[in-house]
Amino acid sequence: MRLVILGPPGAGKGTQAIQLAERYDVPHISTGDILRQAVKEESELGAEANSYIVAGELVPDDLMLGLIKMRLMGVDGRKGFILDGFPRTAVQAEGLDGLLSSFDEKVDAVISIEVDSKVLVRRLSSRRVCPCCGRNYNLLSSPPQRPGRCDQCGAKLIQREDDKEQTIINRLEVYTEQTAPLKEFYKNKGLLKQIDGQVSVEEVFQRIIKTLQ
Ligand code: AP5
Repeated sequence: MRLVILGPPGAGKGTQAIQLAERYDVPHISTGDILRQAVKEESELGAEANSYIVAGELVPDDLMLGLIKMRLMGVDGRKGFILDGFPRTAVQAEGLDGLLSSFDEKVDAVISIEVDSKVLVRRLSSRRVCPCCGRNYNLLSSPPQRPGRCDQCGAKLIQREDDKEQTIINRLEVYTEQTAPLKEFYKNKGLLKQIDGQVSVEEVFQRIIKTLQ
């Protein structure tokens, strides 16, 4: 399975990608997670990417294409993938096609999760994450059992730097301008499947599975 998940910030791409990766036994490749890990490790990539992430802007295409090439050329990348957060621009989408065709492969399907902007702002402002194990919570729909603490490892939950309201608004604008046009790109290839993301997490998952069958 070679699946791309599209959708605005907060649509539930990561939430669904984790479950889909398990279901299809392929790696979940989240460019956002890779970049955040690089920032945490204070690597060269992290230093370069951080100012873009904090501002809610996209990291330059050449950097992203290099990163995804390395990841897909790895052993587990060869057996398929769930791509979450990549591609995000026309240059990245063309680059992905070129890279896959050099392996004689192609994207099998593209899921676009659709959610209204108002819901997205609410979801993102109430998201909390565990800085230790990475688990994701939502104060409205999936709060931790003990307020402010991770159910899994007990660490103190934090808010992502880019989940502040002004940055969220900028991320949504960037999505509309640079990423939403990819829906047309994949529709023209007959790969696009649009899914309503405003139902429960489980319901979204079931609908994705059904549309992929
Ligand atoms: P990235 O981490 O990819 O952020 P994003 O696309 O903005 O997506 P999010 O992680 O915010 O949301 P999501 O759709 O995964 O939703 P989630 O499942 O978490 O990228 C961050 C930054 O890195 C970018 O801004 C950019 O700077 C850089 N970057 C990354 N990739 C790049 C690229 N390819 N090119 C250039 N730059 C790049 O869910 C959100 C919340 O909603 C959670 O709290 C969750 O619990 C809740 N939720 C999920 N589903 C539901 C549901 N059905 N009902 C109720 N609540 C739900």
